[in-house]
Amino acid sequence: DGLLVETVHDEVARACARYGGSVLHRAPGGGCTGRPGGRPGARAVGREGEPYDLVLALTTADPLPAVAEAVRAGFGRNRGTGDHAAGAEGYVIDRHDDITVVIADDPAGLLYGLFHLVRLGGRAFGGTRRAEHHRPATPRRILDHWDNVDVHPVMGQVERGYAGGSIFWLDGALRDDLSRVRAYGRLLAACGVNAITVNNVNVHAGEARLLTDRLGEVAAIAGELRPYGIQVHLSVGFASPVTLGGLPTADPLDDDVRKWWAAATERVYEALPDFGGYLVKADSEGQPGPFAYGRTHADGANVLAEALAPFGGIVRWRAFVYNHRQDWRDRSTDRARAACDHFAPLDGLFRDNVILQVKHGPIDFQTREPVSPVIAAMPSTRVAVELQVTQEYTGQQRHVCYLAPMWSEVLGFRPWGPGGRAVADVAAGNTASDTEDGAAGGGLVGVSNVGADRYWTGHPLAQANLYAFGRLAWSPDLEPAAILDEWIDLTFAPVTDGDPERLRDALHAIMDDSWRTYESYTAPLGVGFMVRPGHHYGPDVDGYEYTPWGTYHFADRDGVGVDRTRATGTGFTGQYPRPWSEVYESVERCPDELLLFFHHVPYGHVLRSGSTVIQHIYDSHFAGVERVAEARRRWDGLIGAGVVVAPALHTRVRELLDEQLRSAEEWRDQINAYFFRKSGVPDAHGRRIP
Ligand code: GCU
Repeated sequence: DGLLVETVHDEVARACARYGGSVLHRAPGGGCTGRPGGRPGARAVGREGEPYDLVLALTTADPLPAVAEAVRAGFGRNRGTGDHAAGAEGYVIDRHDDITVVIADDPAGLLYGLFHLVRLGGRAFGGTRRAEHHRPATPRRILDHWDNVDVHPVMGQVERGYAGGSIFWLDGALRDDLSRVRAYGRLLAACGVNAITVNNVNVHAGEARLLTDRLGEVAAIAGELRPYGIQVHLSVGFASPVTLGGLPTADPLDDDVRKWWAAATERVYEALPDFGGYLVKADSEGQPGPFAYGRTHADGANVLAEALAPFGGIVRWRAFVYNHRQDWRDRSTDRARAACDHFAPLDGLFRDNVILQVKHGPIDFQTREPVSPVIAAMPSTRVAVELQVTQEYTGQQRHVCYLAPMWSEVLGFRPWGPGGRAVADVAAGNTASDTEDGAAGGGLVGVSNVGADRYWTGHPLAQANLYAFGRLAWSPDLEPAAILDEWIDLTFAPVTDGDPERLRDALHAIMDDSWRTYESYTAPLGVGFMVRPGHHYGPDVDGYEYTPWGTYHFADRDGVGVDRTRATGTGFTGQYPRPWSEVYESVERCPDELLLFFHHVPYGHVLRSGSTVIQHIYDSHFAGVERVAEARRRWDGLIGAGVVVAPALHTRVRELLDEQLRSAEEWRDQINAYFFRKSGVPDAHGRRIP
């Protein structure tokens, strides 16, 4: 805690310096006071006799500075209950007698309050401000790194990473200089993230040892992140008792296996008393799991949970379990069904410290998917919702694709219909109308998009996705455009000269709808995939059509789409509660953007929009490329329009927009040509289809 307060102190110094002031002194009990420069007339007087108008204080400080005490008391009165606790990680911000006050019950809350001030900038020190109470929607706001210690021959060092190597490891060893990791902690805290998993869910031999003889590396990373309230988790292999412990089995019901996990976990907590827990990908895409021993996933998760429980740790168990060796000829097997089929029967069988981590969609982070039915199917299980911040299927950080609008739709989706709880509520664990005694929440998890790249995320504009993930995890109701505004202010002010409003307008024009733009020139109407197998970049309509991966579109000369209805298809629609089981079942009521996810329809089928499926495909693909060309014009237009963005940054974005336009044209031409050749239906507007 002391270290965190020290860090807060540094942060205040930096924040004050940004506005031309300086930190005066640390307040008793661990807060501190500062004074933005150039503001005459501040009334309170600091220890050195100088006026100040900023107080950051822990409510545990004794004595609490008088002005902070007044805010605390006033806050309690306003609540009506007299309760003046800011709560874990929460803070109250107020401007009282010309002094801006932030109070928090714990150092993490004070840190988040400080970053709130930084977001407000100069506005934090003008006029009056009513007391505002902020606290996170969920205590679990986690980024999972898919980093490997070694460079994997196919996947590289960071699996699905598009921002260079790992910030933790270089040449198979922990980096000597971890200052970037420290800076990363600060970056994450500023976004609202409070935990990371350091290694890939696919645990290879080298990374497996992070649990045992390489644990010191995890402890070193944790040491850098701790001052920013960031907890560390580890991905572990289910077969560790065999591969690391030399036991003949990893059967979760075997006594020696149980003891092995208990002992290994005890050693972890000796090295890292604030360790978060384990993340497990089991029986999935070749990873070992309990099926090998005829056990269930509840058996598997519970043995790890039992080992973690004495230390307050959790196990996050992924629901991404499906048959990746299916026969493409077999139309009755539906990958979308798999997670629910495997896990729903296990509801209520997991220990309290197991969190089931569910990808937001039933397939795999596609540009458009319905919300996974698992999220609504397990009322007695703690559910975490997993988003993919790294842009595996959304342009790989070469295309601009601001994902907050998609996540916002997912988090706001109400699986039980209007009036029911939203996905964000399930993740937060609010127990309300739909389930009588629902489980606690599992939180929000994102797959990290960060690497050793100088801009952290490869595409500089992809930083907005990292920021938005943290902000939405903290507060799922925030508007994507408002989050973008915050990010623009925080990110561009230091590297830009000229008219900030012009830059803001241009970035909104380029980014606000970039997810829908990406959707419009890639796979149509929710059908998904159509990407190049393996690396998943660029179009390949039939690339996965005759493979074992379960990701098909079934296009023929007459129509396209996957029949997932109960009436004639795989029955997947039946995994949803009403009203969605009915809405998705009906070809008339199904939303256009998901039509081909749920139905196989003729090319002449008329959408709710009034267009036919085939004409929609042509129109959206032509329009999408136009919008990318316009985005490129907007970015170029900044030069000479009174806005000077740091040259290297401008060039990086410009080059990437060139690549995005090239790639979008390729998508447009391949998709349009494919469907024109299949259907024989010409474009109603006579545009050129190669
Ligand atoms: C996708 C991705 C893999 C990843 C997997 C997962 O399939 O392509 O690289 O391992 O998701 O989420 O486990």
